Amino acid sequence: MIRVDRIAYAAFETPDLAAQTDHYERVMGLKLVERDTDTAYLTAGVDHHTVILRRGDAGRCVALGFQVPPGTDLGDYATQIGKHGIATARRSDSQPNIRDLVAFEDNKGTRIEVFAEHEPVPNGPRWSGIAPNKLGHVAFNVTDIQATVKFYCDVLGFRASDWMGDFFAFLRCGPDHHSINLVTGATTKMHHIAFELRDWTHIRDACDFLAQERTPLVWGPVRHGIGHNISTYHRNPDGQIIELFCELDRVNESTQSFEPRRVHQDFPQSPKVWSDILQAANMWGSPPPEGFLD
Ligand SMILES: [Fe+2]
Repeated sequence: MIRVDRIAYAAFETPDLAAQTDHYERVMGLKLVERDTDTAYLTAGVDHHTVILRRGDAGRCVALGFQVPPGTDLGDYATQIGKHGIATARRSDSQPNIRDLVAFEDNKGTRIEVFAEHEPVPNGPRWSGIAPNKLGHVAFNVTDIQATVKFYCDVLGFRASDWMGDFFAFLRCGPDHHSINLVTGATTKMHHIAFELRDWTHIRDACDFLAQERTPLVWGPVRHGIGHNISTYHRNPDGQIIELFCELDRVNESTQSFEPRRVHQDFPQSPKVWSDILQAANMWGSPPPEGFLD
């Protein structure tokens, strides 16, 4: 099976392209690489784009970009996806710096775009604003979590790193503990997009910067149980939650365990179902605000 092994970008529609672009460029510190009347491409470095913003009626996540190993035959990949009864489209030059990709929809209607080769852009991080290392993960509320977990595992090759009860799944495609997470909700929508910062002092500086911007945190800082990352959460102008995190667990695939950490509960810490929901959510810091997961 050809598995995706990296999340590269997320694409959004937005009713306020200028405000969203300002947040990702000036506050988050992504570099604005290309822009026209209706679209803005912003990068955290290396990839031509980490976030794509397109003018639309409402703020919503419409697509995710994933990479399969360079050298992968995308014809073979499209055939593999087609065996699941999923229609695919091959697109050339639909994305700057990605000349060939396979596009299809996941089971909840998000467009998945998979590429093998891209032309890296030697941007490096932009040393203004928050300037994250990279896109870490995207989380969605879904109405049928089992079906969506099955899609991401069976079709895209993800593995479950942890479950919180039976309602919150953390899925990995590479060494990071999760690149996609899925939480049961009343409707299907993106819940948050998360960017990795360098360390805990970077999170402190980001919080100081957000305070100057009069952008309040909606949760955190906390250290989560699941994933053991330190995280904060704030909202962008469209009201979508942005997580800033560091120290996320990394998974050793050969041992099926997480790289040892003093903060772990289990030795070794391995994929499991966390039944203690409070411990799964928080090791320290205030609990999530009421309704945070909705
Ligand atoms: Fe997250």
